[in-house]
Amino acid sequence: MIIAPSILTADLSNLAESCQEAIDAGLDRLHLDVMDGNFVPNMTFGPPVIKSLRESLSENVIFDAHLMITNAEECFMDYIEAGCNHISVHVEAATHLHRLVTAIRDAGATAGVVLNPATPLEAIIEILPEIDLVLVMSVNPGFGGQSFISSVEGKIRRLKAMIDEQVNAGGRPVQIQIDGGIKAHNIAMVGEWGVENCVVGSGLFNDRGTVKENLQILQSALEQ
Ligand code: DX5
Ligand code: ZN
Repeated sequence: MIIAPSILTADLSNLAESCQEAIDAGLDRLHLDVMDGNFVPNMTFGPPVIKSLRESLSENVIFDAHLMITNAEECFMDYIEAGCNHISVHVEAATHLHRLVTAIRDAGATAGVVLNPATPLEAIIEILPEIDLVLVMSVNPGFGGQSFISSVEGKIRRLKAMIDEQVNAGGRPVQIQIDGGIKAHNIAMVGEWGVENCVVGSGLFNDRGTVKENLQILQSALEQ
């Protein structure tokens, strides 16, 4: 199971140090929750902060950008130029999704599409052959520390079946990522549903322990 630390609940006043703590704990990527205050009610950071993080961290660290913004079609290149390796865009915020994911991949990044909890899987049937990852939201986007929406189970199981069918027909494998409310009590369960990549924010960055300690709790839960 890949674990992608969401830095949204990290100490944003010492962001580079918080990110380095996650990398030193053994994580190989950062999940960057970009929020514009329009697509979601919260605002976080954009290309300048990401560029600065890129310059302060090892080039081997994968930057996984989750764009919760209304204008991803106009500005996705800013995030790639700032150093993001992967760009996930919300289907709810893209008019021309095929053109967008194709342009992301042509620019050298991997491309993901994001589904909010109420958005049906059918929204991505036609784009599935063109993408690298599907991010299934298990909270309503905008904030860390929210409760897990367990009703996404059916959507994830159906998505896994769709991807298996695509691969069996010789098509591209697509990774299933889940985002929101993932903790030690449910991380193994979502793995059984077919999830291969878990975004974890408050389960890693909290005042109950260090990132390393919290990561060990998650990894122990996966080994049970
Ligand atoms: C929410 C973000 C998530 C969130 C995860 O809009 O996309 O990545 O930060 O935080 P937790 O793991 O605390 O739910
Ligand atoms: Zn996210």
